[in-house]
Amino acid sequence: MNPGHGAVLAFVFLTLSCLVDGNNSTVDMIRGKRWAVLVAGSRGYENYRHQADVCHAYQILKKGGLSDENIVVFMYDDIAFHSNNPRPGVIINKPNGDDVYEGVPKDYTGLDVTAHNFYAVILGNKSAVSGGSGKVVDSGPKDSIFIYFSDHGGPGVLGMPTGTYVYAKDLNDVLKKKHAAKAYKSMVFYLEACESGSIFEGFLPKDINIYATTAANAVENSWGTYCPGEYPSPPEEYDTCLGDLYSISWMEDCDKHDLRKETLGQQYKVVRRRTAAENVGFSSHVMQYGSAGLSHDPLFSYIGTNPANDNYTFAEYASSPLTLGVVSQRDADLLHFWYRYHKAPVGSQHKLQAQKQLFDEISYRKHVDYSISQIGKLLFADSDSSMVLESVRPIGQPLVDDWDCLKMIVRTYEKSCGSLSNYGMKYTRVFANMCNFGVTLEQVLWASIQACSVPPPP
Ligand SMILES: *[C@@H]1O[C@H](CO)[C@@H](O)[C@H](O)[C@H]1NC(C)=O
Ligand SMILES: *[C@@H]1O[C@H](CO)[C@@H](O)[C@H](O)[C@H]1NC(C)=O
Ligand SMILES: *[C@@H]1O[C@H](CO)[C@@H](O)[C@H](O)[C@H]1NC(C)=O
Ligand SMILES: *[C@@H]1O[C@H](CO)[C@@H](O)[C@H](O)[C@H]1NC(C)=O
Repeated sequence: MNPGHGAVLAFVFLTLSCLVDGNNSTVDMIRGKRWAVLVAGSRGYENYRHQADVCHAYQILKKGGLSDENIVVFMYDDIAFHSNNPRPGVIINKPNGDDVYEGVPKDYTGLDVTAHNFYAVILGNKSAVSGGSGKVVDSGPKDSIFIYFSDHGGPGVLGMPTGTYVYAKDLNDVLKKKHAAKAYKSMVFYLEACESGSIFEGFLPKDINIYATTAANAVENSWGTYCPGEYPSPPEEYDTCLGDLYSISWMEDCDKHDLRKETLGQQYKVVRRRTAAENVGFSSHVMQYGSAGLSHDPLFSYIGTNPANDNYTFAEYASSPLTLGVVSQRDADLLHFWYRYHKAPVGSQHKLQAQKQLFDEISYRKHVDYSISQIGKLLFADSDSSMVLESVRPIGQPLVDDWDCLKMIVRTYEKSCGSLSNYGMKYTRVFANMCNFGVTLEQVLWASIQACSVPPPP
């Protein structure tokens, strides 16, 4: 054969395999419906960014062709018309961004944003839902499901504005139950929170067709971005962060590409690169868990694609990602309170209010830090105390073996010492270590009462 023909054939073959790979429409022809669950787990104007993230995700799915009956949204809904919002009725997710609030279905808002409802919605159990629109993921064996959650978190836990945390064990049990019910073909879970890797680490099976990526590994913060005083900063009149780094990275990538031609794995790489900004210490490691094979699926299979992007093909190294200024999720509220204080006119009522908010938050943090270290000292000798306070289990192992123990210790602590709050969620690992160490509830109760009966030294 003429060597030229070989080259032509190779060229044709390569071209074809690229097209087929990048536009695996056969998969979508035989697929059933696309479903999505979007959750913002916080409330309060200082946490603007989580609801902004979730509203933005809704717009992507909507433009991608999903219908409202297949998208279930959880958001406290206290941002758009908050008295601090400079643009009433509008939420933005980047400095010059469009309104992302318009049209977002209010399925579960306010007190209905709970862990219990989140599980019931995933499981498609209408009778277990309390309040809200009653919309659930009523999916079948051919369907795909996309879940996106943005909030504060801590080792093994995700926040919720009302009621108990989402515990890693419970969430993974729900996912396994959904699989056992043969109620999806494949599922993608995108998770933004501090220590978000700990939700799936050592937990999410590799053989139940779920692919998850998380903003951070099991032992580090995730990061807010578009924050006041950072580059790029929100418009002057905003004193709160508009987005989270991992979240805006995947969404801004979706905003501009034909998602038939971009796989989950390609997006993971882009998001990982953008989230791990060069400034060491101010970045997190985006992780992937579960069924790695699904990373070859086009994003289109889960979130559709916006026809306006048909000519924008994904190119991995086409644009070097912009390095964004970031603020630790745990400190974003302090930043907000400080900016409110700083901007308010001297002597005004607003200034006094903002100052009080800032001081209250700082003293609450001191109280949490102090009480935890006291409990450690009361229960353990010095060497054991630092072990309980600081040790981290090896990669691949869940945080704790006895999750009921962890839940009960958290409850016991909160009864004597008050809510852990968004900040204190970072201490769930200490409680988990206590369980792993065989501490009893009576001991924790005794130590909590001791530690929290007196205010921390100034
Ligand atoms: C990709 O699939 C869509 C339908 O899902 C089709 O309209 C389009 O022509 C395909 N593109 C290529 C390049 O094969
Ligand atoms: C749905 O929830 C109800 C109430 O919690 C429960 O009794 C029932 O067993 C659940 N159904 C399924 C199929 O899990
Ligand atoms: C399309 O994707 C599916 C699942 O990701 C895979 O099993 C299948 O082989 C692909 N088909 C082609 C023609 O590439
Ligand atoms: C994509 O490019 C084709 C050919 O240039 C053009 O006809 C079509 O309108 C473009 N589509 C979009 C959505 O811009």
